[in-house]
Amino acid sequence: MTPSEGIERFIRPDLMNFGGYSARRSPETLEGRVKIPAEDIIKLDANENLYGCSPRVSQALAGYPDLNIYPDNGQTRLRKLLEGYTGVDARHVVAGSASNQLIDLVLRLFISKGDEVINCVPTFGIYRFSTELCGGILVEIPRDENFAVSVKAVKAAISGKTKIIILANPNNPTGTITPRQDILELVDTGLPVLVDEAYYEFSRETVAPLVSRYKNLMVLRTFSKWAGLAGLRIGYGIFPLKIADYLLRIKHPYNVNVVALVAVQESLKDIDYLLSRVKAIIAERERLFGELKKLKWLKPFPSQANFILCSVLNGKASQLQQRLQDKGILVRYFNQPLLQDSIRISVGKPRDTDILIKTLQELGEEING
Ligand SMILES: Cc1ncc(COP(=O)(O)O)c(C=O)c1O
Repeated sequence: MTPSEGIERFIRPDLMNFGGYSARRSPETLEGRVKIPAEDIIKLDANENLYGCSPRVSQALAGYPDLNIYPDNGQTRLRKLLEGYTGVDARHVVAGSASNQLIDLVLRLFISKGDEVINCVPTFGIYRFSTELCGGILVEIPRDENFAVSVKAVKAAISGKTKIIILANPNNPTGTITPRQDILELVDTGLPVLVDEAYYEFSRETVAPLVSRYKNLMVLRTFSKWAGLAGLRIGYGIFPLKIADYLLRIKHPYNVNVVALVAVQESLKDIDYLLSRVKAIIAERERLFGELKKLKWLKPFPSQANFILCSVLNGKASQLQQRLQDKGILVRYFNQPLLQDSIRISVGKPRDTDILIKTLQELGEEING
């Protein structure tokens, strides 16, 4: 008998077959699988910011003296800084170890076993992950062929067990925007509505200024994408006061570390620099879109985020992903009911686009003869 045998009977039955979240491979874990040195790998698979963070952040962290001191559990300074950035009163703001943690926290607040979560698919996988971790039931509403949300279908799916509607805006992996009036129509149902604006700085579409007018509208944001801090894990949400209060009560103590506070402070001091990078990524997104469109065997979808989804019209997306990986270019592929044979390409620097497009042209000749 091994020491762990029989331990299953103590584990929550609903988690016995829980699949977990399939996170992207980091270049280090690819070592040995790909014949390209880790530093030459072009990482376009996780919607990261390839320009990196503000140099001010790296400088400030190098000399940071107080790692031995716990952060402020009430996030007072951090929330004030975020008030300055968002224009929303700090009392509405709750920060977390990136938006993933806030998604988890919001779902823990609303979802008990058997409660329903309305999710507009295809969308970001964490919503399923966190719902199932809470014992909730995911009610999936398919988006249309252009990945637009049908408000009518969402409303028709509401039952006595529905506790929340989640909407990524822009949506990942499709890059699609849901118009403000549609979001407000969902808010008018009275159900909690969580709008995930992880890519806000790229789309500039937001309902954050409206949160204080409603009791049930919540907005999530992150520093992972526009500010290049995905590895550091810092995000925040804008909530009605009552919900903010509950979230502050149920969050883990000290859930945002001390370096995250410094990183936010320095990023916001360097906002012009960071937003100029965002502008460069948006310009590059448009160039990449044009180049992808020229390849007749891929169909790119217009995007308001820092990535582009493409249908692979000729061949298997999984094979294309593998061929690109062999050449040191990482992209994400999907093959699910509403997202068949598709790849998602994060927007990198101009050189990344050049190498990607040249490689796709070569692969296209191979694939299409
Ligand atoms: C829609 C959406 N929300 C949230 C996240 C997670 O971001 P964070 O790094 O803040 O946890 C992502 C990351 O890809 C995303 O696409």
